[in-house]
Amino acid sequence: MITYRPARAEEWPAIIELCVQTIRHVNNRDYRPDQINAWVSRIANPGRMQKRIREQTVWVACDELTMVGLITWMTTGYIDLLYVGKDHQGRGIGSHLLRLAEVSNLREGVHQLESDVSLTAKPLFDRRGFETVQQQQVVLGSVTLTNFKMTKRINHSFD
Ligand SMILES: CC(C)(COP(=O)(O)OP(=O)(O)OC[C@H]1O[C@@H](n2cnc3c(N)ncnc32)[C@H](O)[C@@H]1OP(=O)(O)O)[C@@H](O)C(=O)NCCC(=O)NCCS
Repeated sequence: MITYRPARAEEWPAIIELCVQTIRHVNNRDYRPDQINAWVSRIANPGRMQKRIREQTVWVACDELTMVGLITWMTTGYIDLLYVGKDHQGRGIGSHLLRLAEVSNLREGVHQLESDVSLTAKPLFDRRGFETVQQQQVVLGSVTLTNFKMTKRINHSFD
C-alpha cells in the first residue's frame, strides 16, 4: 500500500536518488542524453537539495519503507519538484501528490499554483486542469531544455 507523509530533513540522499533514477529512466524518453546529464548534475547537488527541504514543503509517497514519489512546493504555491519512481509510474501516485499540494495550498490561503513542467509531466498537469502560459527554453550549463510554465487557479474543487 502506498502511504504519504512529510519528508524528514535527513532523507535528502534518498530524495536525490529517486529524482536521478526517474530522470535517467523516465525523462530519458523525452530528452537527449546531454540534456539528461545536465539535469541530473543540477538535481544531485546536496547543498541545493538540503536548502529545498529546509525551505519548501516536501511530501513523499512510500511503498512500505521505499520512497517511490515526492513533491515539493513553496509558500507561494510554486511546485518545484514532482517525481514518481520508474517502477511506480501510472498508478495515480503523481495525481495524488498534486492533489495534496492543492489541498494544502488552499488551506494556507493560496489560490494559484504554478510550475515549470517537463515534456514528460505535461500530460498529467493538463489532465489536472493546469493551463500552459508559455513554452520555454531553460539553459542548464551548455544545453537547453524545453519545458512549460503552467498555472492553475484553485478554489474548492480538486478535479
Ligand atoms: C509526471 C509524473 C510525476 C506522473 O506520475 P504518475 O504517478 O505516473 O502519474 P499518474 O499515474 O497519477 O497519472 C495521472 C494521469 O496522467 C496520465 N499520464 C501520466 N503521464 C502521462 C504521459 N507521459 N502521457 C500521457 N498521459 C500521462 C495518466 O494516464 C493518468 O491519467 P488518468 O488519471 O486519467 O488515468 C511521472 O511520470 C514522473 O515522475 N515523470 C518524470 C519526472 C518529471 O518530469 N517530473 C516533473 C517535473 S515538473
